[in-house]
Amino acid sequence: MRLKDKAAIVTGAGAGIGAAVMELFAREGAGILAVDRDGARVREVAARARALALEADISDEASVTAMVGRAREAFGRIDILVNNAGYGIRGSVVTTAAADWDALMAVNLKGVFLCSKHAIPVMSGGGGGGVILNTASNVANVGLADRAAYVASKGGVAALTRAMALDHAGENIRVNAVAPGVTWSSYFDSMLETHPDPAGFVAALNARSAMNRVAQPVEIANAILWLASDESSFATGSILTVDGGMTAW
Ligand SMILES: NC(=O)c1ccc[n+]([C@@H]2O[C@H](COP(=O)([O-])OP(=O)(O)OC[C@H]3O[C@@H](n4cnc5c(N)ncnc54)[C@H](O)[C@@H]3O)[C@@H](O)[C@H]2O)c1
Repeated sequence: MRLKDKAAIVTGAGAGIGAAVMELFAREGAGILAVDRDGARVREVAARARALALEADISDEASVTAMVGRAREAFGRIDILVNNAGYGIRGSVVTTAAADWDALMAVNLKGVFLCSKHAIPVMSGGGGGGVILNTASNVANVGLADRAAYVASKGGVAALTRAMALDHAGENIRVNAVAPGVTWSSYFDSMLETHPDPAGFVAALNARSAMNRVAQPVEIANAILWLASDESSFATGSILTVDGGMTAW
């Protein structure tokens, strides 16, 4: 029970990595507010883990303040914030529409800002500090063709992680990120559905990792669990790459 009696918010908990984090945190004893903009999906997965579910859009400040208010109401405090919700789009800077750039940044980068902005005062107000985990990506370390907005957003998440770690260490708040490689999530499933050669696509992605496979969501969730627990008590401002050696070169 590595998170016994801790109160956690997990965004993007309706699917993929976020759902795996929620299930793992629940097994480790945390009380969880599972947040997703897909209300039906988050209610279904949260029920399985006996977590509270909330439909909210992390790019909208009023939704975020309601989210923080719901966590306070349910738990009286916030110990852990997992800023995990995010999505990707294809495109170079030339082919990406400005509106699509803005929409992605509003979720992937501004969403991390908004959730942290409103959760941190509750963490520090409780006197016990807290832990923030951001889901960046290994594309924050290296480039990726045809994903300009996504790569820029995840580079921003990595930089914001370091900035917040410095700003809030004095309040006993640790801020870290995981940088996953390709992970088999609902986002991955949707890419396969529209791909003309799904098997070839998977084989090509497998070949990019030194371990010749993609990650399962729980393998990323396990890294997030370590960063959320007291076992990582001296880690702050860290970006933990978990990508099967994809960017080890
Ligand atoms: N799957 C990968 O290969 C991979 C690799 C590196 C990083 N990541 C990152 O991991 C995180 C989780 O992605 P995943 O792969 O599990 O994807 P996923 O699509 O399976 O899950 C993401 C969840 O976030 C929710 N969401 C999206 N926008 C939201 C918003 N504005 N407000 C609230 N909820 C919102 C979605 O409804 C969905 O349930 C993302 O930040 C993603 O960029 C994924």
